[in-house]
Amino acid sequence: MKKVFTEVFFRKIGLLTVASILFLIFVGGLVRITGSGMGCPDWPKCFGYYIPPTDISELTWTPQKEYKKGQMIIKDERLWEAKQKFTTTQQFDTANWAVYTKHDYALFNPTHTYIEWVNRMVSVLVGIFMVLTVLSSFQFWKTKKSIVFLSIASFFLTLFQAWLGAKVVESNLDGLKISVHMLAAFAVVGLVMIAVFKKHTAVGVERINNLKWFRAAVYCTIVLTLLQIFYGTQVREAIDHWRDANANNTSLAWVNAVDYVLASHKALSVFVMAAMLVLFAIAHNRLEKTNAVYKYIAVGMVLTAVQIALGSVNVFFNMPAISQVLHVTLAGTLVASQFYVAILLYNNHKEVKKSSKKNK
Ligand code: HEM
Repeated sequence: MKKVFTEVFFRKIGLLTVASILFLIFVGGLVRITGSGMGCPDWPKCFGYYIPPTDISELTWTPQKEYKKGQMIIKDERLWEAKQKFTTTQQFDTANWAVYTKHDYALFNPTHTYIEWVNRMVSVLVGIFMVLTVLSSFQFWKTKKSIVFLSIASFFLTLFQAWLGAKVVESNLDGLKISVHMLAAFAVVGLVMIAVFKKHTAVGVERINNLKWFRAAVYCTIVLTLLQIFYGTQVREAIDHWRDANANNTSLAWVNAVDYVLASHKALSVFVMAAMLVLFAIAHNRLEKTNAVYKYIAVGMVLTAVQIALGSVNVFFNMPAISQVLHVTLAGTLVASQFYVAILLYNNHKEVKKSSKKNK
């Protein structure tokens, strides 16, 4: 029988996992800017259905209708859940229904519901890719166990993400939970990339790896960028708090209200940009322009500049939806490009060390 889980399959499915997580971050951004986070009030189903309702009539109590356990209705501005499978009579009977108590959000907006549902479908896809990554990683059990362990670790982190996704909905979109959810997504991207590219090395990077501090500088830039992303989430939380307290105020006054955290976010972006410029200058001097390390450092540098431009658009133009979504999506892409550079340099360093040991 032809082997399904080949090395090529592992690499392709791993890349697909990384790409799908970045896409999920984009869809998550869409959920946020359209305010669709509560489009499905429960989890993992949506109003108790696998395929959510499209019309409010489906969520309105109806006589002589069969309801399955967990299916919901909206009545008296509250969500009610069917306690078991039953058929309604002519009268609403509270004995068959339980008020949903995890939160008190009870509105139906079909657009929000479907955007949130697509978000969940994309996460299911990520889950499937993740499982395939783990299964196909077992081919390396005898040759490179670390690939298996890294794949399993990213799988468990993805499970944690799914659980956290439920908690985000249950908490009616608590800011801190959203932030942890986002940072954990970057951790999954990192782990999967380390596993997938464990055997990748770029030819000719010795010239840059000879500078011992260069690898350390790349790692520090990643830490700085992750810190910047953390501060970004703090800006978002602060803006949300301000908006909750000033519901009808559409002016730019939030900029002053979040000034202290926005100032740190802006200042850190200067450091990230400076670090990327230094890395680029050295790569430019020492590497061929076709070298993967050179290319991905250049990509990272451009992405950092674009991030600064998008952040400025957010501040000066009162957060246009498009720049808000791009700002969060490109943050993910920036980190992924930095991870790739770090992985290539680290693998090359290990290989050189191994071969010099052999030659001794
Ligand atoms: C290296 C550069 C940057 C990176 C990697 C970055 C990353 C991020 C991230 C990950 C978020 C969180 C988004 C969310 O939680 O939904 C964020 C939010 C934000 N950032 Fe940045 N940022 C950068 C530069 C800037 C700059 C220079 C500014 C302003 C001049 C800025 C303004 C903002 C604003 C206003 C938000 C809140 C957006 C929202 O609520 O959706 N950012 N940033």
